[in-house]
Amino acid sequence: MGVEGPARPAPELGALGGLRTRHPAVGVHRQVDPPDLGQIVPRTTAAGAALVGPFLCGGHRGNGTLGVFGPRRRRQPLALDGKEVPLDMADPVTTTSAPPPKVTVPMVRARKRSHGDEPLVMLTAYDTPGARIADAAGVDIILVGDSVSNAVLGHDDTLQVDVAAMAHHVGAVGRAGPRALLVGDMPWLSYHLSPEDAVGNAAVLIRAGAEAVKLEGGRPRLAVVEALLNAEIPVMGHLGLTPQSVHAMGGYRVQARSTTAAEALMNDAKALAAAGCFAIVLEGVPDVVAVRVTEEVDVPTIGIGAGAGCDGQVLVFHDLLGLRQGPPAKFVRQYADLTSVAVTAISSWAADVRGGTFPSAAETYHLPIGH
Ligand code: KIV
Repeated sequence: MGVEGPARPAPELGALGGLRTRHPAVGVHRQVDPPDLGQIVPRTTAAGAALVGPFLCGGHRGNGTLGVFGPRRRRQPLALDGKEVPLDMADPVTTTSAPPPKVTVPMVRARKRSHGDEPLVMLTAYDTPGARIADAAGVDIILVGDSVSNAVLGHDDTLQVDVAAMAHHVGAVGRAGPRALLVGDMPWLSYHLSPEDAVGNAAVLIRAGAEAVKLEGGRPRLAVVEALLNAEIPVMGHLGLTPQSVHAMGGYRVQARSTTAAEALMNDAKALAAAGCFAIVLEGVPDVVAVRVTEEVDVPTIGIGAGAGCDGQVLVFHDLLGLRQGPPAKFVRQYADLTSVAVTAISSWAADVRGGTFPSAAETYHLPIGH
């Protein structure tokens, strides 16, 4: 069921004083094979031989390159009568039976749409069932975001969760054993005091099950990023509308609208990438700014409210599934109304209880006949 969200934001070219883009991805929704990270799909060469790809260790190319092992010829499948089955008609199980590999930081780090790669898909999750659902849907990255504060815990902002709370939710997501890369959000004040403090706090999330951490901010965070990387903790950056700065920003406002602010964001992104961040979230920025940053940094950008030109997209679980209260932000596309589904189901149960039809005999433990 696809519920079309509000109109997409129009490019705001004016605010950037004539920034131009060369990015091939803007406005182009093309299928790049393979359809999933590392998924094995058959391809047919001009000569009709099927190739299986990609064969990459720790890196993914969706652009038709076949990686370090080169092309591999698939064995022609045989039918029961011994005749060769045309590859197109072969049982799809024989071509896709290998489970997709676990997503790793180097795999994500290598994904750029300018290389021909498919966009990255990142979704938040905060508990074991949510992580199972996201993973079954095939997302590449699960972010245990500090948005748990608003989405799950009923607060008005993300400033109300601490490291212990984040570790609690990271642990729950980790127990789902996701194939997706598990990124834990560093909560407010867990990386602002000193690099040593930040490493200690990040270690709590890593020991809870995170495989990388995310933190907000640009050049002022470089010392922390460096300390985390020295401790072998991969870091995802987050620029633009950084919700932990809600008071400093004067509310949740689109950022980088002026040329000066866009240039500052660009410099922050370049600095984070140069420092070693493996990906950068761009939140609440005009699409042209996101495109320029995506062009200029060699790590993937993952957008939320940043237009279609990023190397990936992220949404909050509860926004996508209709589990939030109040109208969603402009950039949200709601794909289901699980609140209505749940209310209908619970109302039916309540009616059955009140009408005396729940539980039935089949839903009841009975003593053996004769007792
Ligand atoms: O906490 C969060 O959910 C996030 C995403 C919106 C990127 O930081």
